[in-house]
Amino acid sequence: MKNIRTMAIFASVAILALASPLAIFAADTPPAAYLPGLLQADQTPNGCVSCHAKHGDKDYTLPAELKRVKGHPDISKMVKEVPTDCEKCHTGKGKIPALASVVHKVHFGPTAENTATNHFVTGYSGSCLNCHKLDLGTGAMTVKTGPANW
Ligand code: HEC
Ligand code: HEC
Ligand code: HEC
Repeated sequence: MKNIRTMAIFASVAILALASPLAIFAADTPPAAYLPGLLQADQTPNGCVSCHAKHGDKDYTLPAELKRVKGHPDISKMVKEVPTDCEKCHTGKGKIPALASVVHKVHFGPTAENTATNHFVTGYSGSCLNCHKLDLGTGAMTVKTGPANW
C-alpha cells in the first residue's frame, strides 16, 4: 500500500516534470560542447593556418583557397601574419568588406540554408574557438594568429 502511494507520488512528479518548461528543454538537450582550448586540447593553436595548410597533394593554403574567390587579388606576398595582414585590405571602411564578416560567412554560410552542410560546421563542430581564443583570466576573446605557411 505504502509502495503504491509512493509510486503514485513519483508518477505525478514525473508528469509535472514532463509538462514543465524544464522538461521541454531537457528533451532538446544540445550536443556536447566542443570548446578547444577549454574542454578539449586545442588542435588549431594558430587559427587559420592550422587548418589551411597543404595536406598531401591537396593545397588548402589561403592563397590557394582565395583563387576560388572570383576576382580576388593574389595575397601570397602581401600577407605574412595570418589573418592580421588580411586587414591591410579588409578594413571594412571602403568597398572591401570587413574581415570578420567575410570569414564568418564562409565558415557558417553564406546563408542559413548552407549552415548545416558547410564543411566547417560538419567537420569541426562550427566552434568559434577553432579561430578565437578565450582567456578566462581576463574574459577577453581574441583571434588566433600564425605566420604564413606558403
Ligand atoms: C578548424 C579548421 C579551420 C580554421 C581554423 C579556419 N578554417 Fe577556413 N575553412 C575551413 C573549412 C572546412 C572550409 C570549407 C567550408 C565550406 O564547406 O565551404 C573553409 C573555408 C575557408 C574559405 C573559403 C574558401 C573558398 O573556397 O571560398 C576561406 C577564405 C577561409 N576558410 C579562410 C579562413 C581564415 C582567414 C581563417 C582564420 C581566421 C580560417 N579560414 C580558419 C576550415 C577552417
Ligand atoms: C590586396 C587586398 C586584399 C587582401 C590582402 C585580402 N583581400 Fe580578400 N578581398 C579583396 C577584394 C578586393 C575582395 C572583393 C573581391 C570581389 O568581390 O570582387 C575580397 C574578397 C574576399 C572574400 C570574398 C567575400 C565575398 O563576400 O564574396 C573573402 C572570403 C576574402 N576576401 C578573404 C580574404 C582573406 C582570408 C585574406 C587574408 C588571407 C584576404 N582576403 C586578403 C582584397 C584583399
Ligand atoms: C573561421 C574563423 C572564425 C570563426 C569560426 C569565428 N570567428 Fe569571429 N572573427 C574571426 C576573425 C578573423 C575576426 C576579425 C578579427 C579582427 O577584426 O581583428 C572575427 C571577429 C569577431 C568579432 C568582432 C566583431 C567584428 O565584427 O569585428 C566577434 C564578436 C566574433 N568574431 C564572434 C564570433 C563568434 C560568436 C563565433 C562563433 C559563433 C565566431 N566569431 C567564429 C574569425 C572567426
